[in-house]
Amino acid sequence: MSILAEQFQQLSTLLHHTRGDWQHTPFSCNQLPWPELTPMLMALTEAQIDILDEDEAAALAWLAPMRPQTVAAHDLTLPELARAADYATPRWSNGIGGRKWAQIKDFAANVAIDHPVLEWCAGKGHLGRLLAQQGAPSVTSLEWNADLCAQGEQLAQQLKLKHHFHCADALGSAPTTLFQPQQLAVALHACGELHLRFLRQAAQAGTRQLALSPCCYHLIEHDHYRPLSIAGQQHDLQLDRHSLRLPLQQQVTGGERVRRLRHIELSWRLAFDELQQQITGQPRYLPLPAFPKRLLSDDFAGFARWACAQKGLETPEFIDSQHWLALAEQRRLLVKRIELIRHRYRYLLELWLLLDRALFLEEQGYQVTLGTFTASSNTPRRYLLQASLA
Ligand SMILES: C[S@@+](CC[C@H](N)C(=O)[O-])C[C@H]1O[C@@H](n2cnc3c(N)ncnc32)[C@H](O)[C@@H]1O
Repeated sequence: MSILAEQFQQLSTLLHHTRGDWQHTPFSCNQLPWPELTPMLMALTEAQIDILDEDEAAALAWLAPMRPQTVAAHDLTLPELARAADYATPRWSNGIGGRKWAQIKDFAANVAIDHPVLEWCAGKGHLGRLLAQQGAPSVTSLEWNADLCAQGEQLAQQLKLKHHFHCADALGSAPTTLFQPQQLAVALHACGELHLRFLRQAAQAGTRQLALSPCCYHLIEHDHYRPLSIAGQQHDLQLDRHSLRLPLQQQVTGGERVRRLRHIELSWRLAFDELQQQITGQPRYLPLPAFPKRLLSDDFAGFARWACAQKGLETPEFIDSQHWLALAEQRRLLVKRIELIRHRYRYLLELWLLLDRALFLEEQGYQVTLGTFTASSNTPRRYLLQASLA
């Protein structure tokens, strides 16, 4: 059994045993689900919860007496991979933001460009362009947004690079033919189903070198995640989209403004939930989709009107913001207490998902490595899965 397979087995056992810790939907709970954790959770003020939740090491130390195995599992760390020698932005980098540029440079520092490159879900093809600049024999970037393709194509022409775009839906049948055996296939931050497709198609084509940094595990075709590897299917955690979103709740600490917006968003979502329960007469949580942060610069009544429209509910003529926000106050602390426990499984769940992908590739005959390719201050999605066929 490979080291990755051993780690996967250990992690699967732990996550099966502790599912009562991480599977809850905090918005649907009306009390703390763990009697044994209740005293220590109730002893924390909201400010203490916020500080602890942002400091992973401190939060794990706090949890250790009650959940020693969960905390011990965090010793399964992934190696730090190569990093770019510098992040100086050349003229042709074309205004890419600092963090994005660092991610691209670090990703590129980890791949050998001996073969033609296929870049999957490329956006404007910034990574592909850098690889072409660095001497890749040719680069094909797959992207379905025609505007991005046109801009990327133009930038490549200006630089006279062998870099072309293929404008198509990655989930359609046409891109299947893009995978070749003598190729390096790369995907930087390709979402759920898109990177699952990438892995399956590359393996089917026998593509020699793969490099993938996955993101948005919850954006999948089915309601539940279907593990890719045989090992994953044997230890299936039956992950629904709610659980698949948990690893993404890891954020680069965004400073006071971001913290304040998060606080308002949580309060308003909960206040709307109280309101909708009264309108519908159903004592059931009704989730709202993700929304642009500018909605938070309105007042609560404006937000509630938007949310009612989203959910097809008749908007009340008068919305007593004070009343609904006061009800949300009480629930907000409960949600934060539950999240404080759930968040201690973000890394472990992401590791499980990464290892499932890694084991799938091992099962297909690849040599696989897994590690972090860039600093956490650049992006929380910093895992790189690399695979090669002998
Ligand atoms: C998160 S962005 C990553 C872009 C680029 N790799 C980067 O890291 O900057 C994902 C890209 O996938 C593209 N995309 C989403 N769904 C797609 C699909 N079904 N087929 C092709 N491209 C898709 C989006 O338009 C977007 O440019």
